[in-house]
Amino acid sequence: MKHKNIIKQMTLEEKASLMSGHNFWNTKAIERLGIPSIMLTDGPHGLRKQGGKADHLGLNKSLPATCYPTAAALANSWDRTLVNNVGQDIGKEARSEKVSVLLGPGLNIKRNPLCGRNFEYFSEDPFLTGELASEMVKGIQSNGISACPKHYAVNSQEHMRMTIDEIVDERSLREIYLSGFEKVVKKSNPHTMMSSYNKVNGEYANENQHLANDILYSEWGFDGVVVTDWGGNNDRIAGLKAHNQLEMPSTNGITDKEIVDAIHEGELDESILDDAVDQLLSLIEKVRLDDKESVQVDYAEHHNKAIDAARQSMVLLKNEDNILPLKSGTKVAVIGDFAKNPRYQGAGSSLINPYNLSNPLKSLEDSFLNTVGYAQGFKRMGGKSSNLLKEATSLAESAETVILFIGLDESKEAEGVDREDLKLPQNQLDLVESVVQVNKNVIVVLVGGGALELPFADHVQGILHTYLSGQGGGEAVVDLLIGKHNPSGKLSETFPIQYSDVPSSDYYPGDQATSEHKEGLFIGYRYFETANLPVRFPFGYGLSYTTFEYSNIGIDGLTVSFDLTNTGEMAGAEIAQLYIEKVDSKIFRAKRELKGFDKVYLDPGETKRITIELTRRDFSYYNTVINDWEIETGNYKIQIGSSIREIHLEEIIDMDGVVSSVYLKNEFPNYASASVKAIPDEEFEKILGRKLPPKNWDLDKELGMNDTINQAQYKNWLGKTLYNFIILFHVFFKKIGKPLTANNVYFIINMPFRQIDRFSGGKVSKKTVELFLSWINR
Ligand code: BGC
Repeated sequence: MKHKNIIKQMTLEEKASLMSGHNFWNTKAIERLGIPSIMLTDGPHGLRKQGGKADHLGLNKSLPATCYPTAAALANSWDRTLVNNVGQDIGKEARSEKVSVLLGPGLNIKRNPLCGRNFEYFSEDPFLTGELASEMVKGIQSNGISACPKHYAVNSQEHMRMTIDEIVDERSLREIYLSGFEKVVKKSNPHTMMSSYNKVNGEYANENQHLANDILYSEWGFDGVVVTDWGGNNDRIAGLKAHNQLEMPSTNGITDKEIVDAIHEGELDESILDDAVDQLLSLIEKVRLDDKESVQVDYAEHHNKAIDAARQSMVLLKNEDNILPLKSGTKVAVIGDFAKNPRYQGAGSSLINPYNLSNPLKSLEDSFLNTVGYAQGFKRMGGKSSNLLKEATSLAESAETVILFIGLDESKEAEGVDREDLKLPQNQLDLVESVVQVNKNVIVVLVGGGALELPFADHVQGILHTYLSGQGGGEAVVDLLIGKHNPSGKLSETFPIQYSDVPSSDYYPGDQATSEHKEGLFIGYRYFETANLPVRFPFGYGLSYTTFEYSNIGIDGLTVSFDLTNTGEMAGAEIAQLYIEKVDSKIFRAKRELKGFDKVYLDPGETKRITIELTRRDFSYYNTVINDWEIETGNYKIQIGSSIREIHLEEIIDMDGVVSSVYLKNEFPNYASASVKAIPDEEFEKILGRKLPPKNWDLDKELGMNDTINQAQYKNWLGKTLYNFIILFHVFFKKIGKPLTANNVYFIINMPFRQIDRFSGGKVSKKTVELFLSWINR
């Protein structure tokens, strides 16, 4: 124990007191022992430090800070250096504001494109996620503060995130949901990690012995502090036993007392508390900041870097007849509310108060284009308006080219709620249809944090997806449209043709007791490639204004190299991707998987030799029988492509390994063919290694502290009234055009009763909640 001497001087109460926050964002200090308080705050794509009232849903304002593109956008850059630099900048802003722990990056895997927080996550692929998140952590921590990767683990849905039990088999857990976290721990040594709200296989993530003790600490060697997600503590003692050293925010001493009582009653060994205090003190030692230190931030420089990050992150999805880049003097009509009122980030705890905000319409007007007019085109929050439609259509008629900004409004991608569908609002689809009737040169600019259904894709000439591009997005998009910069982003997720194509579409999100990850490994491209199904745009896809050629692949041991040449007329960057495919695999697995990539900038005519180092782990699958990674012996194709569906070079390598005896294709016929849309329970139970727990709530059971108002509606008139009352408010706020408030009201329905006393800061006591529950249970 590193801090034995100081811990010896503490009373039991003092030690327990350190295990939870002093207030919403700070830890407790013990002045007599010189232990300072440190500040933790959001994250992840900018600093959200609240000066006044605090909350974890982005309701109250925070200090101005640079808003960078969100993780889903940054991931499209596939640029390790860029993401590291963004991390450095955010870390610097945090340090200048005396923030010791920045709550990010978010690196949950995009299991399903409807997840409300996908905009905050990197990818459907764990390799890409792990590589980029590690760089973000390194960048943030280069400032002498801590990053806090989150949410560990399997926080796959927002709906009922505080109670849902994510049922996932161990192989998928290791290969898909954990390997990004594993890479981050091993490559970038984060000083803290945030546990998620949900349960994983029956235990809250925060109390999960397997996730925390077996995997995070023992196997991966994590030596930092685990912080609860805000209000994510369930049983404080179980959390402490699973290495959760810090509960946030403050509980007004309620859970500190529980710790003291548990030690007195012999339920908790004091040495566990001592170890946790020791780890927390080590963190404080690493990241404590000097009050007198002054760190100067050049916000103008950070704004320019935010513009550059946005340029690198946008993805050109279609460019028929080279409609882009637009030439000087082109008469353009700018249509769509998002051109004038940019949407550049998502809602919830990541909401940044941007220091500066560039505007697409203004940047277009300032460019060499001849902007003939702007029309709003549609009501942002939905609903028909024939006037807006007419005005936009007649403006479209008068121009040579139309730039049409469409996308998702602020309420669609938010914490606590998942999207209802993958569609753009009907009024915007009507607008596209009307505009293409009168003008053949339509370029759609998409705004939103993820995949969308694009039914009009064949009817427009150009599509540029900006994602949620941060405060510099307005300038960046124009730079790309006019060819001042060459687009280089590639999709870090698959765009299905329609939502029903997504493997988990029939059962996502789980909406009672559990969410069954029946599709196992087959999420995103792993499903579409293996099942050989059409998609709108594949993983890794994106266009450029120049062309690239791949040649001369060579393999030496596990080192792969090849030449990449810019064969076009404009300088630009290409993202070369390396996929591995097992030849004649005996076990079920994804057809091919991403295992390497490089983003390379080339002048016209220039060739560079690219080298990618592989490791044995890149060929491995997780064997739950031996609890280790192993390689199936035999041949593997090494494929180099510009997307998962455009493979240009291929070479075979032979790997030593084992003759696999697990996951054999003939024993798992549906997984073998990736027919995972309707996996029988028995086949899922076979990979799970146990019987499935009940999917639905037991409505005869008495409600307890971990249940929700959502469940109370089935109990008696009181529960039903309460539920209806909240729904009424929810609908009211939606109707009056306040969908964000409506979201937050809805959030209450899924809040477990245990949270009420904590969030009210003890104003509504545990006893009162218990009394209320007894009435509902009557
Ligand atoms: C979110 C976290 C966030 C925390 C603090 C929670 O609601 O899930 O991502 O860091 O609030 O704002």
